[in-house]
Amino acid sequence: MNEDIKIESRDLNLWYGEMQALKNVTIAIPENKVTAMIGPSGCGKSTFIRCINRMNDLIKNCRVTGELLFGGRNIYDRDVDVVALRKSIGMVFQKPNPFPMSIYENIAYGPRIHGICGGDELDGTVEASIRAAALWDEVSGILDRSALDLSGGQQLAALHRTNACSKA
Ligand SMILES: Nc1ncnc2c1ncn2[C@@H]1O[C@H](COP(=O)(O)OP(=O)(O)OP(=O)(O)O)[C@@H](O)[C@H]1O
Ligand SMILES: [Mg+2]
Repeated sequence: MNEDIKIESRDLNLWYGEMQALKNVTIAIPENKVTAMIGPSGCGKSTFIRCINRMNDLIKNCRVTGELLFGGRNIYDRDVDVVALRKSIGMVFQKPNPFPMSIYENIAYGPRIHGICGGDELDGTVEASIRAAALWDEVSGILDRSALDLSGGQQLAALHRTNACSKA
């Protein structure tokens, strides 16, 4: 029954300096299902989720032991290409964080990295993303304006939807 398990942690431990935030976390997460993590504030939900694409690598004094398998491969192996890993495992944050540039450039950022450099293809991807976020009527005339001018809710919708479209 293991074939539909996509992400699996085995005895995962994590320390921020002296403080141990994750203790022997062993969990199997199936593919194509919604898995929710519920627990009191500070119990380590975000910490665990950040482990899945090695975001904790960026935190000073953070140390991880144990295994975290993605498609059967331990993503903490030394030879794992972390940039490639993060292309496969996206993360949507609670708080939107637009880059200080135009609405268009914020949305085009991901597709550009994936090789869509401009022209009709990029314009089409940007439009499809904004339409999918149900924001086209509101922002199609102001794509050159700073994304920081959007309301909090608009930022959230635009950036989350864009993330999904650029990964598709
Ligand atoms: N960068 C960090 N440096 C040091 N300690 C941290 C860091 N991030 C989180 N912690 C600590 O690790 C523990 C787990 O935090 P985490 O953010 O994973 O909790 P959470 O379950 O996501 O909480 P919430 O429901 O409030 O979002 C907490 O005690 C927190 O203070
Ligand atoms: Mg959290």
